[in-house]
Amino acid sequence: MYRPNLTDLPAIRLPEGYSCRTFQPGDEAAWESIIFQSFQWKSDFRKQMEEDEYYNLGKIFFICYGDTPIATASAWHRPAWGRHVGYLHMVGIIPDHGGKGLGLQVSLAALHHMANSGKEASILETDDFRIPAIKTYLRLGYKPLLIHENQAERWKDLITANDLRIND
Ligand SMILES: CC(C)(COP(=O)(O)OP(=O)(O)OC[C@H]1O[C@@H](n2cnc3c(N)ncnc32)[C@H](O)[C@@H]1OP(=O)(O)O)[C@@H](O)C(=O)NCCC(=O)NCCS
Repeated sequence: MYRPNLTDLPAIRLPEGYSCRTFQPGDEAAWESIIFQSFQWKSDFRKQMEEDEYYNLGKIFFICYGDTPIATASAWHRPAWGRHVGYLHMVGIIPDHGGKGLGLQVSLAALHHMANSGKEASILETDDFRIPAIKTYLRLGYKPLLIHENQAERWKDLITANDLRIND
């Protein structure tokens, strides 16, 4: 999915008790726990993030409940998409805190970072079955980007089955 600009990002809005911050040394286990609980797979922060050539602590965002990180998203980069395109990466939330749109807010933190570091657009990769994520991304202004011939049909099915609305 592709957001063609980063010019009109709304401000981050969080319910009471929640705050937003970047990753700090020592947050590795908290990040792995969010990814484990949201994606249902065990992830190694070092392999997944730290060993990536675009790794930078300041690009990894958390929403915390009190002091506890409960959602994450990262403002990453994948050179294949171009120098001025930010890559939204590893968006997840602990299910206990789901249903409040916090996935959107933590993604927004990553998008603001992209905008502030000179990116002009944003891209992400997802899966057909990730309906809450796809709804979140559409609400954030991302649109489908077709990179394989079978995707037009798959998007048509997704839109119909979930009554999705694509932004103009
Ligand atoms: C993506 C994610 C962070 C969103 O969490 P969240 O902000 O709590 O999202 P919400 O529960 O508020 O749901 C977002 C939207 O999806 C809808 N939704 C939630 N569960 C749904 C379901 N099972 N079927 C259809 N729609 C659903 C919600 O109603 C909401 O729609 P709305 O904005 O029109 O009201 C979270 O679902 C998650 O961690 N998923 C697992 C990891 C993942 O898939 N990450 C993205 C990888 S690309």
